Amino acid sequence: MSQTSSPEKIHDLIGVGFGPSNLALAIALEELAETNGHALDALFIDKQTDYRWHGNTLATQSELQISFLKDLVSLRNPTSPYSFVNYLHQKQRLADFINLGTFYPCRLEYNDYLRWAAEHFATQAVYGEEVLRIEPELREGKVDHLRIVSRDPQGRETQRRARSVVVGSGGTPKIPDAFRAFKNDPRVFHHSQYLSALQQLPCNEGKPMRIAVVGSGQSAAEAFIDLNDSYPSVKVDMILRASALKPADDSPFVNEIFAPEYTDLVFNQPHAEREKLVSEYHNTNYSVVDVDLLERIYGILYRQKVAHQYRHAVLCRRTIEDVVETAAGIELTLRDLATDVRQTHRYDAVILATGYERRSHRELLAPLQQHLKDFEVDRDYRALANPEFGANVYLQGFCEASHGLSDTLLSVLPARAAEIGQSLYQHLGKQASNAPASLRQTCA
Ligand SMILES: Cc1cc2nc3c(=O)[nH]c(=O)nc-3n(C[C@H](O)[C@H](O)[C@H](O)COP(=O)(O)OP(=O)(O)OC[C@H]3O[C@@H](n4cnc5c(N)ncnc54)[C@H](O)[C@@H]3O)c2cc1C
Ligand SMILES: NC(=O)c1ccc[n+]([C@@H]2O[C@H](COP(=O)([O-])OP(=O)(O)OC[C@H]3O[C@@H](n4cnc5c(N)ncnc54)[C@H](OP(=O)(O)O)[C@@H]3O)[C@@H](O)[C@H]2O)c1
Repeated sequence: MSQTSSPEKIHDLIGVGFGPSNLALAIALEELAETNGHALDALFIDKQTDYRWHGNTLATQSELQISFLKDLVSLRNPTSPYSFVNYLHQKQRLADFINLGTFYPCRLEYNDYLRWAAEHFATQAVYGEEVLRIEPELREGKVDHLRIVSRDPQGRETQRRARSVVVGSGGTPKIPDAFRAFKNDPRVFHHSQYLSALQQLPCNEGKPMRIAVVGSGQSAAEAFIDLNDSYPSVKVDMILRASALKPADDSPFVNEIFAPEYTDLVFNQPHAEREKLVSEYHNTNYSVVDVDLLERIYGILYRQKVAHQYRHAVLCRRTIEDVVETAAGIELTLRDLATDVRQTHRYDAVILATGYERRSHRELLAPLQQHLKDFEVDRDYRALANPEFGANVYLQGFCEASHGLSDTLLSVLPARAAEIGQSLYQHLGKQASNAPASLRQTCA
């Protein structure tokens, strides 16, 4: 059954997803409403039933990988009430946080900060509806506006209309082909499901288990540490194709690539040069681990050697050649890339810390494909379109190839949100709903 929410209403903007990217946009739009003297009618739809930032990965030891000063707003407007510092102040933890002497709060706390900020936009957010597709609404042969079709957990579909969409739906878990057949097997899961999936396994009740963690990025390392610390009955094998676990380069000169100004530098390069820049700095973000965590893992393995008690292993240079389910568990056949020697290992569960793909925008926007230029965007993140396309599509988090490595991260959120917000005001022009600028809510 499909229903249309207020059939006559056309929103200025519907945001798909209410993660940090679209939350930063909601904040920027509130500021722009004041400077422009009128607010845009914006609604954000998120498929989660409440606000959570990678909620199933929030292991207690996990820390933010970016300075808290790069929060939703401070780099653009340090006086904003939506800063992490004001959040700490409101929660009466500012002095205690300072005593920690860190720039890197734990991710549990950052999740709480984001949730606190999102609460201020509760009237503009719809939770528990998954956007399925974005379709064109034609008028006199032209795309006049867009129809956003969503579905709630009971299977009811809702249609809403908007002049613009901003797709901020984040990454999609990457599942290697060899594991696709295990889609409904609770023993094989992607790291994005880490906490809830582990709760269903016998180790949650202290029973012994052998668990394989596939991958050598930050997710794999965090799973290793959490299994070591929180599940004493678990033995872990970390399985990686690389010849070693490698550190993320977060040294200061390199870190300048995450400054908002660097986006211009990347965008203004020809395609081939952009590609070079992204691959040159790949090791700031992908298939790498924070050095502190690397050292902890090394320390754990070293202490095993001292005690002659070998609970965990890191199996480098291994590619997974076969995955077979047997009565005794899941058997992985691994080939050593240096020696070509094959060995079969049996596990009770497999965690795929195999990263994320950025393709959900293509699926959501497929009905508009013929009007868009292969999902390429302009500097303001607005999708390039054919002349008959009179609506606006913006992408947040899908523009790494054109805007650089910061695009999938938190680093440029304040600047990007303002750029998109200004572009929306410019392109909506007189069409905008002209609501009075709402008074800023007290951030408490
Ligand atoms: C475990 C983990 C930790 C990370 N830590 C850091 C870090 O410390 N620092 C950093 O800079 N980056 C980090 N990242 C990178 C991450 O991409 C950004 O932190 C940030 O989450 C990007 O925000 P986003 O809003 O673009 O995407 P997301 O945070 O992924 O949010 C997307 C939102 O869209 C919703 N959604 C998806 N599809 C639909 C749909 N069809 N309909 C409705 N809603 C939908 C989702 O429910 C989600 O709430 C981390 C990534 C992971 C996986
Ligand atoms: N605390 C935090 O802030 C935190 C925590 C987790 C994640 N993150 C962020 O989230 C993003 C993603 O990190 P991630 O660790 O999830 O992913 P990632 O860095 O992309 O790493 C994915 C890993 O999976 C491996 N892999 C992919 N396909 C494979 C296959 N078919 N077979 C075997 N191995 C395969 C890759 O191996 P190859 O290298 O051989 O390709 C790589 O080691 C990063 O931005 C990261 O910083 C942050």
